[in-house]
Amino acid sequence: MASEKIIAVIGATGAQGGGLVRAIINDNAGGFAARALTRDVNSDAAKALAALGAEVAAVDIGSEASVKRAFAGAWGAFCVTFFWAHMSAERELAEATAMARAARAAGLKHVIWSSLEDTRKWVPLTDDRMPTLGGKYKVPHFDGKGEADSVFLTSSAPATVLLTSFYWDNFIHFGMGPKKGPDGQLAITLPMGDKKLPGIAAEDIGKCALGIFKKGNAYVGKTVGIAGEHLTGAQMAAAFTKALGKPVRYNAIEPAVYRGFGFPGADDLGNMFQFKRDFNDDFCRIRDLTFSRSLNPELQRFDQWLAANKGRIPLE
Ligand SMILES: NC(=O)c1ccc[n+]([C@@H]2O[C@H](COP(=O)([O-])OP(=O)(O)OC[C@H]3O[C@@H](n4cnc5c(N)ncnc54)[C@H](OP(=O)(O)O)[C@@H]3O)[C@@H](O)[C@H]2O)c1
Repeated sequence: MASEKIIAVIGATGAQGGGLVRAIINDNAGGFAARALTRDVNSDAAKALAALGAEVAAVDIGSEASVKRAFAGAWGAFCVTFFWAHMSAERELAEATAMARAARAAGLKHVIWSSLEDTRKWVPLTDDRMPTLGGKYKVPHFDGKGEADSVFLTSSAPATVLLTSFYWDNFIHFGMGPKKGPDGQLAITLPMGDKKLPGIAAEDIGKCALGIFKKGNAYVGKTVGIAGEHLTGAQMAAAFTKALGKPVRYNAIEPAVYRGFGFPGADDLGNMFQFKRDFNDDFCRIRDLTFSRSLNPELQRFDQWLAANKGRIPLE
């Protein structure tokens, strides 16, 4: 409908953006329309979004001119960067800056920037509790995003910074699911000690983002965090045990051991978990569950997510 406010969604064929496109299309209250942005409008994933009713348009966030074209005529935008596609925090900062500038140029009314903490505010580079990576980061895939927050809050269109949480979907797609140890028993391995890990169903991030857009100006200029539940490794292992019907234990290791796993990004993730463990009160507090549910009343708990997704979790 012509009166609908168009939200231009970066990463629409992916986890966060895809959830937002589907949330907009499935929202009975209406009021918003989704412009699904992708590098390839002819991909199966793009066609699937078009079939649901989304407008599909091209974008490459590496080009400010491309983002400007993609944002033209929209009311709002959801902006996210893709660290794991290139593993460069500098590139994330450049892409975020291009998106913020394009949002202002297009005269958008509200932009959501999907971010994470700049951990250097808690662990300066001089702090040797965890190694400095790439010369100027502690947790590169957090720090580049966090550095871009001020760009969105000062030089973009009116913006909300959205701090997301660990996707439980990592247990399916990112190799973090239960694995058999030498004893043959399944275990999840995390360097979180007895601290709580805020987690979320990836699909719920978009639903929360729609909730922010629907609250008008309430969160413009603000930084807000979301999570579906805050759980210790032991609690997650107990939930796995119940859902899978076989014992899963929590293998608590030190962050240094995790950093040494050797896969690309293991050092970044080891530092990330250490940050979440050592600054757990701050990290959990901003990801308030009641607030998250106020944005998205369908917010899933871990046991609900597991019941729906346990068949997709590879058990090695
Ligand atoms: N995994 C977690 O637990 C977690 C938690 C919090 C935050 N994050 C952050 O989430 C971010 C990734 O978001 P996501 O999980 O929603 O991504 P995703 O599912 O990997 O989707 C990425 C999508 O982005 C599009 N894309 C890639 N490069 C692009 C470019 N240059 N221009 C335009 N589009 C491009 C691709 O679509 P096309 O191929 O269709 O163009 C792809 O479908 C990462 O930066 C990560 O740090 C992850």
